[in-house]
Amino acid sequence: MILPKKHAKSPRIPPKGFETANEFFEYVFNDKEMIWMGQNTNHLHEEDEIIDAMINCLQSKEYCKYPPPEGFPELKKLILQDLDLEGDVLVTAGGTESLYLCISDILKPNDNIITCDPGYLIIDDFGGRFSSGAISVPIYSSENDYKLTPDLVKEYMNENTKIIVLIDPLNPLGSSYTEEEMKEFAKIAIENDIYLLHDITYRDFAEEHFLAQKYAPDHSITIFSFSKVFGLAGMRIGSIIGTPKIIDSVRKVLINDLGTNVISQAGAIAALKSKKHWIEHVTTTTRNNQKIIKETVDEIQGVFIPVYPSNSNMLAIDLQETGIDPKDMADYLLLKKIFTRQGSYTSKRFGDNYLRVSFSIPKYQVEIFVDEFKKAVEFLRK
Ligand SMILES: Cc1ncc(COP(=O)(O)O)c(C=O)c1O
Repeated sequence: MILPKKHAKSPRIPPKGFETANEFFEYVFNDKEMIWMGQNTNHLHEEDEIIDAMINCLQSKEYCKYPPPEGFPELKKLILQDLDLEGDVLVTAGGTESLYLCISDILKPNDNIITCDPGYLIIDDFGGRFSSGAISVPIYSSENDYKLTPDLVKEYMNENTKIIVLIDPLNPLGSSYTEEEMKEFAKIAIENDIYLLHDITYRDFAEEHFLAQKYAPDHSITIFSFSKVFGLAGMRIGSIIGTPKIIDSVRKVLINDLGTNVISQAGAIAALKSKKHWIEHVTTTTRNNQKIIKETVDEIQGVFIPVYPSNSNMLAIDLQETGIDPKDMADYLLLKKIFTRQGSYTSKRFGDNYLRVSFSIPKYQVEIFVDEFKKAVEFLRK
């Protein structure tokens, strides 16, 4: 018999009308009219070099072979160039796998890991599996600008803390760090000889962004994803960047010993090479869409956006004062073919406060959303 885990992955609760979460995801995935605001993915890439590169790779049948296990050197070089970092790179099947590998490599049973709530909750699960658990710092407050601050870290960490997770910009709120804050985090990591796990999945949406690895290279690991700004979520590709010493350590716990999807790597190489051709279009459209949402939210009594502007392609809309359960709001919008996320997906403590929406989608879809959202608040308001 396989014993139940103390720190098992939190079960996904299926929305109303679905028996399992997988059934729900299949339903939304297959509905071609569904407006995709529930996964922070990017739907703004048009026919471009990225698609061409993947089609060429497919047609060449290169996928019959295994790729180099740690990623094509060209891709590794392009990732370092994109970040203007020195070091080594492991190509993985996404940011999630990257997080798992780093956490499993670094933590020992008595250690702990600092995360924040709201945040990307799977990290807490990973932390719990390999250490005494995650110290999840509540950050949903204007007092700390809706983010994990250096002061909060100092307050919550202890002698067993081994990793501080910085999701930057933060899923779900879109808060991000100043250079000063990043320097302070670097100081904490160096002084305590611990690691900053810097998840930069949403970096390219930010107006400004500062890499922990620049300030504490020997105590930082950068988690990179091709799922968001690059528009490759379904291709499942990302990477880990760190000093050669750190990467050498993580290399020893690799799962995907036979490498990462060849077609995804071809897409990722083309995405980085062609970034200058599409990045402006993606970020400008995303920021303009955010303004449309803000204008609507400002017109509605009892709702507000905690972090505006969000430095990401998603934001939270606080519904607390309306008495609306975010789950009811997400269910209502789903019936209108708009996929959003109730707060409980990214928060254990504050899930009843907000709805998360992402907006790297065509403008007309955002306009449909704001119309429906206005109606939904009036319909569901308690
Ligand atoms: C903070 C954060 N890190 C990592 C990921 C997952 O990235 P990937 O699709 O590359 O596994 C997500 C996905 O939503 C995320 O929000």
